[in-house]
Amino acid sequence: MRRKLMVGNWKMNGNRAVNAQLLTELSAAPWCNADVAVCVPFPYLAEVALLLQASRIQWGAQDCSAHESGAYTGEVSAAMLVEFGCHHVIVGHSERRAYHAESDQLVADKAKTALAHKLTPIVCVGETLAERDSGQTDVVVKRQLSAVIHTLGHCISQIVVAYEPVWAIGTGKTASPEQAQAVHSLLRAQLRAATQKADEVTILYGGSVTADNAAQLFSQPDIDGGLIGRASLNAADYALICKAAD
Ligand code: PGA
Repeated sequence: MRRKLMVGNWKMNGNRAVNAQLLTELSAAPWCNADVAVCVPFPYLAEVALLLQASRIQWGAQDCSAHESGAYTGEVSAAMLVEFGCHHVIVGHSERRAYHAESDQLVADKAKTALAHKLTPIVCVGETLAERDSGQTDVVVKRQLSAVIHTLGHCISQIVVAYEPVWAIGTGKTASPEQAQAVHSLLRAQLRAATQKADEVTILYGGSVTADNAAQLFSQPDIDGGLIGRASLNAADYALICKAAD
């Protein structure tokens, strides 16, 4: 039985005072059955680790380098994230694929490096509106996941997958529960062909999840939780979304 997982993706938002308030409120929110995490900007990791040390909320980062260490100015290694108590790291978010030209193979290499350091990579896949409109959704998400499957081999069952249709991210347009479930079940089938443990893999949905649409999305058989952007910046909203999976 897969546990539900909720991950807040803060993106490039927050400041020290706002973060402290958000995490204090979130820590005090009513209990939910899901595992809950927040993925925060790198400079805040040390402080977030302190703020959450007595909490059940886990934390992680939004990217990591595919390299171990060395002359890679501006990059942050998986080993560094582990030093700050990270459990998860998002890799291949569509904003990084689009604005930093991250390829399917680079994303797969990042996932491999993360796993080598016992960090759980949250591998994002998803199609653009043009790709959906031209009937390419299945081809695109399968291509993105296939690079990770080939690179990780039997370790593929240790990742978390996040299906995030690019047209739904930050737009207020959510995939319908049926649309999302269709892609999730396709991804699960692709994982089944690669590992006997495909039914253990957590597949999150992301893209304009709100307290209003969360329960319907999370009740789908292959939707195991959410990757939540904007709504995770508000403690009350995020707590309601986490509770929606109960
Ligand atoms: P959103 O972002 O919830 O603001 O749409 C989700 C994401 O990009 O992970």
